[in-house]
Amino acid sequence: MRAVDIIIKKRDRGELSREEIDFFVQGYTRNEITDYQASAWAMAVLLNGMTSRETTDLTLSMAHSGQILDLSGIVDVAVDKHSTGGVGDKTTLAVLPIVAACGLPCGKMSGRGLGFSGGTLDKLESIPGYRVDLSTDEFKKQLKEIGIVLTGQSLDLAPADGKFYALRDVTGTVQSIPLIASSIMSKKIAAGASAIVLDVKTGLGAFMQTLEEARQLADTMTAIGELAGRKVKTLLSDMNQPLGFAVGNVLEVKEAIDVLHGGGPADFREHCLVACAHMLVLGGRAVDLASARKLADAAVENGSAFEKFRQLVVAQGGDVSRIDSPESLEKARFVETVPSPESGFLSQVHARLIGEASVDLGAGRARKGDPIEHAVGFEILHKIGEYVQAGEALFIVHANDAGKLKNAKETVLMAHLFSQEAVNPLPLFYN
Ligand code: URA
Repeated sequence: MRAVDIIIKKRDRGELSREEIDFFVQGYTRNEITDYQASAWAMAVLLNGMTSRETTDLTLSMAHSGQILDLSGIVDVAVDKHSTGGVGDKTTLAVLPIVAACGLPCGKMSGRGLGFSGGTLDKLESIPGYRVDLSTDEFKKQLKEIGIVLTGQSLDLAPADGKFYALRDVTGTVQSIPLIASSIMSKKIAAGASAIVLDVKTGLGAFMQTLEEARQLADTMTAIGELAGRKVKTLLSDMNQPLGFAVGNVLEVKEAIDVLHGGGPADFREHCLVACAHMLVLGGRAVDLASARKLADAAVENGSAFEKFRQLVVAQGGDVSRIDSPESLEKARFVETVPSPESGFLSQVHARLIGEASVDLGAGRARKGDPIEHAVGFEILHKIGEYVQAGEALFIVHANDAGKLKNAKETVLMAHLFSQEAVNPLPLFYN
């Protein structure tokens, strides 16, 4: 078999066999297929799609590109969660400690930023010393000892996805249902999850812009999960405007810490607690969503959720004094509050424009392997439907470069639209 023939077949809308998919995935993992061939293949898949059989074969091939973790004997039910990616989505940073504090052990492999969407690993690395490259043995040991792990897939878990993910980030090949579904589900299968809560985002700041596409992605992942013998619960959540206020790595870590202390923006806090409740039910810690919610609320109120986050940071080598005093985390050189240019009801706070502007500030990558500027980003202070007075603070820019700050201000001002008529707030979740 030759990689080029497989690329041509997909370019010409052919259906790839399991053997062809496996040849391509394993060849790329072993560096026998180059980045430029993998980019061409990913673009062909993005343009021409895959059948559900191809998508399942791709998922299983990526999952089996490394080890499959066996967590039996360590946890009763291995529950995991994953978001399809959005702007200001730091949910994992708060949800995992809350769920673990409720007695449901949780080990998760997360990803880096992808396109305009932030990544949990980049956020965690803004805590100095925090390691995201645990070995499989370290993963299991930590899960057993403290009931929480939050690491990357750098070692031997779904290495194929690690390589494709970094490549897709910088080749315009993120927005594809088969590529997203296989990326997410291969990681979950490799990490040994038996039950998975999938937070599928929809809207201007999500990879799936319409509810219909989001549903299709949710259904594809559910079908893969069922074929692989996993329980899956999908949530459809809004991503037209950023989640919470903070967009950018340090800023988002601080906001997640606020939620763990019982504060934080109302939309983000509620989103986290809903996701926690679903995980607790799926993991058998609660019989229904109402009692699960009580458990989650109590873990925040009694401080055990924040304590679990501290244990996680200590276990993974992070400087815990920085999360005890979040104001000691890295700061940007320039911090500027931008006033509202007009009065009115906010009718748009365009999440994608804000996500792209944060990448331009340095919070994400333009090329594979680019370094991240952890302290830069935005605090977006108002939500769609709110009335804002001219001159009132609209958003805050954190930047390390005066030129980039100026551009970011212009883009984020454009991201805000006003109406003189009342505007309904957006729902957090869709049915
Ligand atoms: N999250 C992932 O893990 N992979 C994708 O492709 C998109 C979101």
